[in-house]
Amino acid sequence: MNILETERLLLRHLTPDDLDNKASGQFIGRCGLLPWQIDGVDEVEVAYTIAKAFWGQGLATEAALAIRDYAFASLGLTRLVCLIDDGNLASARVAEKMGMAFEKACEDEIGPFLLYGVVKE
Ligand SMILES: CC(C)(COP(=O)(O)OP(=O)(O)OC[C@H]1O[C@@H](n2cnc3c(N)ncnc32)[C@H](O)[C@@H]1OP(=O)(O)O)[C@@H](O)C(=O)NCCC(=O)NCCS
Repeated sequence: MNILETERLLLRHLTPDDLDNKASGQFIGRCGLLPWQIDGVDEVEVAYTIAKAFWGQGLATEAALAIRDYAFASLGLTRLVCLIDDGNLASARVAEKMGMAFEKACEDEIGPFLLYGVVKE
């Protein structure tokens, strides 16, 4: 099922066929919404990973903005976050372009991360 379309991207659930990089559309990455509990608070992360060959074309930003707008307009969410490794400047920039700002440094069982967040206007 297609979830979202942007100018250059089709966002939908992964299927086993995606492993074959089918001719109907090249598989370039994964993105979506992930639920977390951070410091006792329920949060929803906008997560994104783009294959290296496609970096620097604005694709993560394009996907992230579409997901943000869908989450706020269609899912009724009022706040979104990103969990970013310290030093991952590209990821932090994508978060900022979603309107997010750095909130605090956190740590979970996997390790430390920076919490960025945005509230629906
Ligand atoms: C982070 C990631 C998704 C960015 O994907 P992308 O499609 O290249 O991102 P975009 O092109 O939409 O935008 C990247 C922004 O970061 C900036 N950027 C890239 N590398 C940078 C660096 N080393 N320092 C500062 N800014 C940087 C770009 O200039 C761009 O900002 P701009 O449009 O204002 O110029 C990609 O690098 C990736 O998949 N990394 C590995 C997985 C990962 O880290 N995911 C995020 C986990 S929180």
